[in-house]
Amino acid sequence: MVLDVLHSFEAAIVPYYDLLRVFHIISIISWMAGLLYLPRLFVYHAERGTTSEVRETLSIMEWRLMNYIMHPAMAASWLTGLALLLALPGWGPHLWMIVKAVGAVCLTGLHVYFAYQVRAFRKGGRTHSGRFYRIINEVPTFLMILIVVMAILHPWDGVFADLRGE
Ligand code: HEM
Repeated sequence: MVLDVLHSFEAAIVPYYDLLRVFHIISIISWMAGLLYLPRLFVYHAERGTTSEVRETLSIMEWRLMNYIMHPAMAASWLTGLALLLALPGWGPHLWMIVKAVGAVCLTGLHVYFAYQVRAFRKGGRTHSGRFYRIINEVPTFLMILIVVMAILHPWDGVFADLRGE
């Protein structure tokens, strides 16, 4: 039953594969923009948020970035990514896919952590030093490079094809 639904969904989306790629790339650009910029705002907040006016302005910027850009972009990245996965021709146990999925799950974990930090800055919860946010700012960059290398180069495909005896 579930398989039937998945198969009919797959048949419906295959003709739109390239369009899905377009939406996937637009979504991840928007998501990444937020994941890369928000920790910079946290740095300013931690180091320069000396007056209540500056803190309020930064909190509004962080909250809007998270709620108007990052939440929708993350949802769209997952939806288009999963739809692509379903429509992918010759689906198999590719190592690049697994590494890419682990990278995407880590980015999602980071996103959730950033959402908590936005709330902590807004409501006076536990926040960290500017140095901490500078360091954490490098994590999405690293994950993005890893994911894009996996998505475009499809490394180890040869290894898996050999293992499958192809
Ligand atoms: C959120 C979960 C995600 C899922 C389930 C997912 C899944 C997929 C799938 C199945 C493809 C098609 C692969 C192919 O045609 O070879 C794809 C393409 C791609 N993905 Fe993702 N992806 C996700 C997130 C991301 C993220 C976060 C990035 C970048 C940081 C990314 C970058 C790309 C790129 C560059 C392509 C290649 C597009 C093309 O040339 O066809 N994806 N993704």
